[in-house]
Amino acid sequence: MDKYLIKGGTRLEGKVRVSGAKNAALPILAATLMTGDECVVEGVPDLKDIHTMVQLLRNLGVEVTCEGTSVRTRVVNEDLCEAPYKLMKTMRAGFCVLGPLLGKRKRARVSLPGGCSIGPRPVELHLKGLQALGADIPVCEGGYVESEVERLRGTEMYLGGPYGSTVLGTANVLMAAVLAEGGTVIEGAAIEPEIQDLCRFLVCMGARIHGIGTHRLEVDGVGSLHGTRYRIIPDRIEAGTFMVAGAITRGEVEVDNVYTDHLLSVMDTLRNLGVTVEKTQSGMGCKISVDQELRPQDIYTLPYPGVPTDMQAQIMAFLCTVPGASVVHEKVFPDRFIHVAELNRMGARISQEGAGALIHGGRPLSAAPVQASDLRAGAALVLAGMAASGTTELDRIYHLDRGYSRFEEKLNSLGAGIERVKA
Ligand code: EPU
Repeated sequence: MDKYLIKGGTRLEGKVRVSGAKNAALPILAATLMTGDECVVEGVPDLKDIHTMVQLLRNLGVEVTCEGTSVRTRVVNEDLCEAPYKLMKTMRAGFCVLGPLLGKRKRARVSLPGGCSIGPRPVELHLKGLQALGADIPVCEGGYVESEVERLRGTEMYLGGPYGSTVLGTANVLMAAVLAEGGTVIEGAAIEPEIQDLCRFLVCMGARIHGIGTHRLEVDGVGSLHGTRYRIIPDRIEAGTFMVAGAITRGEVEVDNVYTDHLLSVMDTLRNLGVTVEKTQSGMGCKISVDQELRPQDIYTLPYPGVPTDMQAQIMAFLCTVPGASVVHEKVFPDRFIHVAELNRMGARISQEGAGALIHGGRPLSAAPVQASDLRAGAALVLAGMAASGTTELDRIYHLDRGYSRFEEKLNSLGAGIERVKA
């Protein structure tokens, strides 16, 4: 197992290019199961979750070739319908092969993903939507969802849940609805840019979807889909992570190749904290710098267009360096706070209660051995390590490898001192 040695006290400076969006690429790759034709997906980031999805597609009879950031797929065997636990346990997004399999092959056996360190990760909304379309999904047995359908029929449904819309649930149900007979209305659909990207990909394959980018998706089912070539959107969370990396090191960082429209809530949060954020002229990036006093803030994570829960841990690390009391309210995954204890081990003073955390910022951070509990918690600890005194040892960085492409290489190109060593 590798770990990072992170040299503290570095100031990041320069320009960094953002890769394609992991959370758009994963469901889009799953959608390639829905045609017999060749698909070419471009701008796919090179990271562990993508490798796992490629492995899963191969298990499901898809011939997959990866060349640089392009992934070429063609289904060669439609008899294979099982998504096994060994692949699902490391990557929950694998569950969104269920909708495509039921829509196209009318048969699926998919392992339930189970919880993870950001809290319980239920899938009842995925199943509710698929059942509404006519899939008979009996009580799950042996940790698997198993279903066979004669045909799926369009219908109206409400897919909102206790924490708002569901991203992968919307993806799963939408993909099944595209190949169902007749029309489907998904009310309470997620509107994250990654879902909009999936919608656009499906439209390129011949799907008929109206209301893209709204909470009400209307789908006219089609008999079949065809192959296509598509470039996925840049990763707004990777971009946001680099923006906070610039801010926490009091540096000057230009983040290139991202739709700033996808980051308005993050830019607003940073500006309210006193960070200078300017869009670059190309319209595809922004520059951040810290040239005035910072002030604490209360922050609420929310589904899009709110502050993303996937930026909560990184922003919290930054708040540790901002003098005064800030509060973070986690409104999407109320248990997503394992990084609190690790940040406190580095000298932060954070108290957590329920789905909120009170941060007494401005105390100096100092290096300590810490470990990543999930992808974004890991990113937060890297950022904290760069702002701390001494050399932080970060263990379990396989979480970071799951979701950031060449993370330490990109940060080092900005002047960070991060070394990957064998644990
Ligand atoms: N929820 C339910 N029932 C369901 C599904 C979800 O109650 O059937 C709840 C969840 O427990 C949570 C909320 O709804 O409280 C939102 O969960 P959602 O289903 O939207 O999450 P997801 O689709 O499983 C995706 C991203 C996550 C990101 C969330 C929220 C991918 C592969 N994953 O997960 O990304 O945090 O949406 O935006 O797209 C990450 O990249 O680090 C990551 C965890």
